[in-house]
Amino acid sequence: METRLVDKFGRVHDYLRISVTDRCNLRCVYCMPEEGMEFEPEERLLTFEEIAETVRVLAGYGVRKIRLTGGEPLVRKNLEQLVTMLSSIPGIEDIALTTNGIYFAPRAVKLKQAGLTRINISLDSLRADRFSLITRGGDIRRVLASIQEAIRVGLEPIKLNVVLMKGINDDEIEDFLKLSLEQNLHVRFIEYMPIGHDDAGWKSKYLPLSTVLERCESMGWQTEECDKALKGNGPSQNYRIAGAAGTFGLIHPVSDHFCQTCNRLRLTADGNIKPCLYWSDEFNVRRHIGDEEALARLFFRALEIKPESHEMAKVLLDEQMSHTPTNRRMSQIGG
Ligand code: GTP
Ligand code: 5AD
Ligand code: SF4
Repeated sequence: METRLVDKFGRVHDYLRISVTDRCNLRCVYCMPEEGMEFEPEERLLTFEEIAETVRVLAGYGVRKIRLTGGEPLVRKNLEQLVTMLSSIPGIEDIALTTNGIYFAPRAVKLKQAGLTRINISLDSLRADRFSLITRGGDIRRVLASIQEAIRVGLEPIKLNVVLMKGINDDEIEDFLKLSLEQNLHVRFIEYMPIGHDDAGWKSKYLPLSTVLERCESMGWQTEECDKALKGNGPSQNYRIAGAAGTFGLIHPVSDHFCQTCNRLRLTADGNIKPCLYWSDEFNVRRHIGDEEALARLFFRALEIKPESHEMAKVLLDEQMSHTPTNRRMSQIGG
């Protein structure tokens, strides 16, 4: 068997995104219905021991970077303990967290001590009232406090995820860019993805990220690409406005997808390996825990069927289609 996780298109997989829970303390409009969803019962979630065992086997095949996602990962009890377990696995170099930031500040020190290396925080508006509308009740002050705390404990560069939606927050592009001018933060604009729901309104809210570069031009801001300066190897294309303290990035899966360089596998909270965010194929790890060879065979089977690209743009072109073929919502995959 291969010693690295290479798929049939030659892409080497060294990054695992682990969703530790499908639950969330918020209900962002683009992610979850207002009434919530039917969540997985606790006994169906992988235990920390099962997650660590899966990671240990994957690390033996070259996985170096882990990202913990949800739902909201900090809703899972004792996440610090999982971080401690993962950071002691030989080969694991980077343990990152994608969070909505509401619960982060009081736990920052313990998470850092446990081995957390980086953090990405969702922040779709800088206006308190609008933030509350988008998240259906979130308090922006707690997120801002978490950003400051992340800086204080030394988790820089801190990445802020902004899902851009026409008519909802596109009038704040300039404010977010100014934030990257003034502070050492990395603001990442993300194209709204048509994932896992029948949101016919998706097309009317979708906005290509070329809008952000156009806005820089109209403001007279010079930008330069700065990919090498940023830790992490996700799908973002990164820029700095001349003279800025921080940077900004564009993640545009719909208008200009980045699948040629995809290095990611996903593990769902209920124990399925998903080779691609967009498609419904999944491979259950739970029944193979304890059998290293069977687990490894499962990972390679998942890679064998990994598609060359996600084809999200088709949803834009096809009048009839408003959602993607994945069987899960974004909150169940973890982005
Ligand atoms: P770093 O750059 O290492 O910090 O990580 P990242 O960009 O992968 O992490 P994050 O969880 O912040 O992801 C940001 C956005 O990128 C989320 O909306 C994800 O859904 C999206 N994203 C990450 N990986 C993929 C992918 O493989 N395909 C698609 N379509 N979107 C992705
Ligand atoms: N399109 C784009 N990004 C999304 N996220 C959640 N749902 C969507 C969507 N439909 C983002 C969140 C979070 C990250 C993990 O995924 O804002 O930052
Ligand atoms: Fe929760 Fe994140 Fe979904 Fe918002 S985007 S509802 S914070 S899982």
